[in-house]
Amino acid sequence: MEGSVFKILYYMTVVDIMNAGNEAIHERVRERYGQKAVTTGAQCCGPGCCSPSGYSEEELARIPSEAVLGEGSGNPVRHAGLKAGEVVVDLGSGAGVDVFLAADRVGPSGRSIGVDMTREMLARARRAAHAARIMNVEFREGLIEAIPVADSTADVVLSNCVINLSPDKAAVFREAFRILRPGGRLVVSDIVQERPLLLIDDDCGCVANAMLRAEYLATIRQAGFHGLEILEDRAWRSGPGGVEASAITVRARRP
Ligand SMILES: C[S@@+](CC[C@H](N)C(=O)[O-])C[C@H]1O[C@@H](n2cnc3c(N)ncnc32)[C@H](O)[C@@H]1O
Repeated sequence: MEGSVFKILYYMTVVDIMNAGNEAIHERVRERYGQKAVTTGAQCCGPGCCSPSGYSEEELARIPSEAVLGEGSGNPVRHAGLKAGEVVVDLGSGAGVDVFLAADRVGPSGRSIGVDMTREMLARARRAAHAARIMNVEFREGLIEAIPVADSTADVVLSNCVINLSPDKAAVFREAFRILRPGGRLVVSDIVQERPLLLIDDDCGCVANAMLRAEYLATIRQAGFHGLEILEDRAWRSGPGGVEASAITVRARRP
């Protein structure tokens, strides 16, 4: 009896410590991106990174310019095969660039929902939607590790240069799987490490917190996704021994 009480207390303490660590990471990320949201104009968070050049001029002309902060690592919308009427959820939507691009593709009968934990980013994205009178978008406050979206309701889950920042990437992919309808698509642009890097931090935090490529792909499969493909793959950060981190765009589906 006494032994089981100790066991329970031990596990409670371990879970509390893990939760406190995760919250500290979330707080640091919020602070960083809260600042970026209130700085006018696009800014890059590292060499070769976060460039709005992943989007064509034609794409950028169709969405509010305040939504484009240049914080992405690819163009997941381009690979999502979006159709009119579909429901899209963008994890870590920032100022909303991919939410607005997706909204344009799914049209008035569809819906494009951004989820972000940073209030300044949500405010910026909502202001842009209001000013441009775009009605089929919505920005929800929440964590991507506990997505504020009902089970099996999304046709597509997108994310652009965000999951690398999460302290619990397995939870993010499990949550993406939960909110997708059977047959739904996951399209993610993100950063992966090519070899273990002992970085305390980097310009945007996206390399230091990134997973190793093989581990990242295994985590997506373990969440239940099938048909995983790598659609884009380019060097993101190079060091003395060659490429240290890459920007990849992957697609998979919930069976
Ligand atoms: C590098 S920016 C990318 C923004 C956007 N996807 C883009 O391409 O411009 C990262 C965004 O993800 C959000 N974010 C990071 N970790 C998050 C988490 N665990 N839950 C919710 N949002 C998160 C940040 O607040 C920030 O707005």
